[in-house]
Amino acid sequence: MKNQLPQGFRYLPGYFSRQQQEELVELVRAGIKTAPFYQPRMPKTGQPTSVIMSNFGELGWVSEKSGYRYDPLHPKTAEHWPKIPQELLDLWGDVTSWPQNPQSCLINWYREGSRLGLHIDASEQAKDAPIVSVSLGDQALYRIGGLHRNDPTRSFKLSSGDVLVLADTARHCYHGVDRIYDGTSTLIPKGGRINLTLRVVR
Ligand code: SIN
Ligand code: FE2
Repeated sequence: MKNQLPQGFRYLPGYFSRQQQEELVELVRAGIKTAPFYQPRMPKTGQPTSVIMSNFGELGWVSEKSGYRYDPLHPKTAEHWPKIPQELLDLWGDVTSWPQNPQSCLINWYREGSRLGLHIDASEQAKDAPIVSVSLGDQALYRIGGLHRNDPTRSFKLSSGDVLVLADTARHCYHGVDRIYDGTSTLIPKGGRINLTLRVVR
């Protein structure tokens, strides 16, 4: 029973083909024409995060000095976020049996040196709905632990086209991205890694 992956954690390496990955990058590129990447701030300290963000969906996850929230509008343009592409709803239908579609798809762009500290996803009212995440571009060192911050963790490399599903216990576990392996993929013209996170919010 030593340091197992949490129940409900599924790793689907190579879920998307290279061509499908290129199509997803194209969809992100189209989305950020109306909802450009913005630089989030850490709540309270107002420190900029190293990851820049945008969203698809009726609700976008936004982090500013005033706090985290789900918001139907982009914090800089005050426009609605673009719709979640059908390709991502199809993924959701394929890898979950949740009766609702996701309302939010967070788009994280990790450029060289970006990281994401250990955290749990806790801004959603739909706390038991699974979370589905897609890796595109450079490889990342991903870490997942347990329900408590100091529980043992396991790390592994995520590559472009990989999908993770966090359901059941895994949905409530600490996780983060320790580093990006710069230049390990040619998928994203400007480099780095894009992660798409699908969530049911309420
Ligand atoms: C997240 O936990 O919000 C994103 C994880 C990832 O980039 O793989
Ligand atoms: Fe997360």
